[in-house]
Amino acid sequence: LIIVLDFGGQYNQLIARRVRECSVYCEVHPYTISLKELKAKNPKGIILTGGPNSVFDPASPHYDPALFDQGIPILGICYGAQLMAWSTGGTVETAPVSEYGKTETSIDRTGRLFGDVAETTTVWMSHTDYISKAPEGFRVTAHTPVCPVAAMENDEKKLYAVQFHPEVTHTVEGTKILRSFVMGPCGCKGDWKMDDFVERTIQEIREKVGDGKALCALSGGVDSSVAAVLMSKAIGKQLTCVFVDHGLLRKGEAESVDKVFGPDGPYDLNFVHVDAHERYYEKLKGVTEPEQKRKIIGEEFIRVFEEEAKKIGAVDYLVQGTIYPDVIESGLGKSAVIKSHHNVGGLPDHVDFKEIIEPLRMLFKDEVRAAGLELGIPEDLVYRQPFPGPGLGIRIIGEVTAEKVKIVQEADAIYREEIAAAGLARSINQYFAALTNMRSVGVMGDFRTYDYAVVLRGVTTSDFMTAEAAEIPWNVLQRIMNRIVNEVDHVNRVFYDLTSKPPGTIEME
Ligand code: XMP
Repeated sequence: LIIVLDFGGQYNQLIARRVRECSVYCEVHPYTISLKELKAKNPKGIILTGGPNSVFDPASPHYDPALFDQGIPILGICYGAQLMAWSTGGTVETAPVSEYGKTETSIDRTGRLFGDVAETTTVWMSHTDYISKAPEGFRVTAHTPVCPVAAMENDEKKLYAVQFHPEVTHTVEGTKILRSFVMGPCGCKGDWKMDDFVERTIQEIREKVGDGKALCALSGGVDSSVAAVLMSKAIGKQLTCVFVDHGLLRKGEAESVDKVFGPDGPYDLNFVHVDAHERYYEKLKGVTEPEQKRKIIGEEFIRVFEEEAKKIGAVDYLVQGTIYPDVIESGLGKSAVIKSHHNVGGLPDHVDFKEIIEPLRMLFKDEVRAAGLELGIPEDLVYRQPFPGPGLGIRIIGEVTAEKVKIVQEADAIYREEIAAAGLARSINQYFAALTNMRSVGVMGDFRTYDYAVVLRGVTTSDFMTAEAAEIPWNVLQRIMNRIVNEVDHVNRVFYDLTSKPPGTIEME
């Protein structure tokens, strides 16, 4: 285990990512974790992250200097490097010239982490303070024209520091440096695999929950499904999963959740399927404003869940499928609200539980998928594309009605079928059909029609923050269009949305 001690830098998630890419298990903890707790985790190494503060400012985040005397290998990055210097007797000051961006750096290849690195290498710098004098016992192992201590080490005490950011790809040999740290001084073997995580997590859940009870809201998405299966493997029938079918799911989705988690499925748990679709349609009657729809759907979900929880009675744990990027996003959360994603952070007020349990909070999405496969969850569920909490409610522009839901479900099912048949399912990150609120004139046979227009959306994206419209071959689009206008009642037109994000968003609402 490598622990990343978080001092608030913007690339912290990436550090964990890079370490995991070396097949070394890694957890991120806030710098507020005590030295005692930290040591109890028995890490093989610790990485101190960057951060926006100045170490010489008394209000900035510091750490017990005894950390540096434990014999645990430590790598300080940026602020973490300055903190190491400052805590062990070096000097940190505001740099006369701050460095930002790609920087040519001279490397001393005898440095413990630099054996594989070129003598002059490009690194990513982003700092206004610098280490002007390395502490006693340290030697300088890299510098730039304006940064005298771009890297330093005290190999005897296993302390290493880099002013630059090895975790970002702009640091050309950054991964090598991180690998050298975890494989060298830390002595990691690089044999961490998903089955270790799965087994250890099951064990940990068992110990934590004991003979207590846990309750989980199952959405049918990847995260909550993997969390539920992990929990069920650990505690079996002490777990109850509530699946709220709000009637805004894709075609066949409720059935597939039943198949996996229901009584005939492979897992040992209590499964409650609540069919709440009428209740939702009633609440959504006449509502057209997107954020209001989201709010209603989110709140109603919590109410339904609370009612079911009441029937079950007090539980000890509430299970959440939170994954690592959610932790980060909700932690920063300062950007303007473009859309409120209700399933991040919304918690029931009236469920009687003692503690939240988040078995996936240290995993990235692809790792959640790997864990899902390891747990034997069907591939189609594991690779399910993201589906918003409010479901088809925000893919129907304007008022939601049962009829419109049916239209979108049918059109979307055809779209998905044809994309899969064309072998494109994994190369388009998210794709779906939505219903415009537009009706137009068409002709079918010899008759005039006045029907709805369906819009197809398909995007490629790596982070869902920006996206490009996917290039779907013309013949595939035409086949989809043909099938939709022929097979789906009340649709006489099909559009393909070419808009990128920004300025568009991925969903229509
Ligand atoms: P947008 O439309 O904001 O979508 O470009 C980015 C990603 O977020 C999903 N999305 C949501 N997910 N609740 C969710 O759980 C929501 O209200 C919501 N709105 C958008 C969207 O599907 C895409 O993956």
